[in-house]
Amino acid sequence: MNLNPKFVYLLSVLLICMSIGYTQQKKETKSFDIKKQLEYCAQQASKTLEMIPDNGTSPRSIPTGSKEWKFVNYKDWTSGFWPGELWYLYEATGDKKWEKEADKFSRFLTSLSVSKANDHDLGFQVFNSFGNGYRLTKNAAYKEIILKTADTLATLFNPKVGTILSWPHNKYGGHNTIIDNMMNLELLFWASKNGGSKKLYDIAVQHAETTMKNHFRPDFTSYHVLVYDYETGKKIKGMTAQGFSDESMWARGQAWAIYGFTMVYRETKDPKFLEFAHKLARVYLDKLITEDLIPYWDFNAPGIPNEPKDASAAAIVSSALIELSSYTKDKTLKKEYETKSKKMIVSLSEHYQSQDVNSAFLLHSTGHKPAGSEIDCSINYADYYYLEALLRLQKLKK
Ligand code: GLY
Repeated sequence: MNLNPKFVYLLSVLLICMSIGYTQQKKETKSFDIKKQLEYCAQQASKTLEMIPDNGTSPRSIPTGSKEWKFVNYKDWTSGFWPGELWYLYEATGDKKWEKEADKFSRFLTSLSVSKANDHDLGFQVFNSFGNGYRLTKNAAYKEIILKTADTLATLFNPKVGTILSWPHNKYGGHNTIIDNMMNLELLFWASKNGGSKKLYDIAVQHAETTMKNHFRPDFTSYHVLVYDYETGKKIKGMTAQGFSDESMWARGQAWAIYGFTMVYRETKDPKFLEFAHKLARVYLDKLITEDLIPYWDFNAPGIPNEPKDASAAAIVSSALIELSSYTKDKTLKKEYETKSKKMIVSLSEHYQSQDVNSAFLLHSTGHKPAGSEIDCSINYADYYYLEALLRLQKLKK
C-alpha cells in the first residue's frame, strides 16, 4: 500500500496529540486527592463557624464579591443544609467537634416537626439535618423529630391529584407541584420504614408516579412547576418559576429530578423508576455543552455562553450519578456515569472552590435568576451536595 507521506505525517501528529490529551486527563483525575478536598471543606467550615451569630440562625449564601454570609432562621427552605454539612464533616473526620456543632444547628429546626406544614421543603430541612444525624448517631430524639416531620409533610398530600402540594402560598390557579419536591420523598420513605405509617410510603410512590407521568416533556426534560386541578386532579399546565422560560430546561430542576428518581428507585426497587432516572440523566448529559461539565443556570438561557453557571446543579448531579452508576449492569453506561461524575467533582474542586474569596466551599451557583436573587454566588446547598459527592466518590473508590 502506498501512503502519501504528508498524510502519514498528519496522522502521526494527530495520534500524538490525542495521546497527550488522554494522558493529561487521566493524570488529572488519577491524582485527584479526595482527602485534601475534604480537609479544605473542614477548614472553610471552621472559618464559617466563627462568623455565625449566636441567635439560632445558620448560613445560607454569600453574594458575589462579599465575604459575609447571609444568615437565615429555621423556617428558611435551606436551613437543613448547614447542619447537614456539619454531619457530613463528622462522618468524614470522626472528630467530635463536628458532631457537637451539627447537633446544635440541627436542634434549631426542631419546631418544624410540630408546626403546621408551610411547604414541601421539610425534607430538605429535617432529613438533611436530623436524618444524617440519626444515621450517624442513632439518637432516639432525632428519630422522633424525623417521624413527626414526615407526618407533617404528608398533610400536604392531595389524593385527588396524587402529589404533595409544594407551595401552598403560590396558587397558580390550582394545586402546584415542583420538581424539587421529589427530593423530599426520601423523608417519607425513611419514616415508613422506621416506625412511621405505611401510608407515607404509598404517598411517596404515588407522588413519584404522578410526577413521572405529567412533569416531563417528550424528551424527558423537566418542567419546574406543574399545576393540577384541585378537584379532578387533571394536569392544567407546566410552567417555570426559577428557570428561563416555561419550556426551558432549568439546570437545577433537572438535577433534582435525576437525584430524586434515583433515590425513589433505591427505596422502591421498582425498575420503572430506574429506567426513568437513566432517561433524565441521558438528556442532561447529552445537552451539557460545557467543557468542564458545570452547566449554565438554564440549558436554554438566551445569552449562553455569557450566562452565569450553576455549580449547585453540578454538585447534585455528580452525587446522583455516583449512585445511579451503582444500579446499572451496562458496563459502558456505568463507566460513562463514573467518569463524568468524577470529572464534575474534579472541575468543582479545581476551578470552583472559594479558597480565600470567602468561607463557603464553592463559588458560582445561581439561586433564582429571574428574581435577580443569588446569582453567581456561594450557596449552602451547593456546598452540601459537593461534600456528599466527595464522600460518595471516596466510598466508590474503597
Ligand atoms: N428548591 C429551590 C431551589 O432549588 O432553588
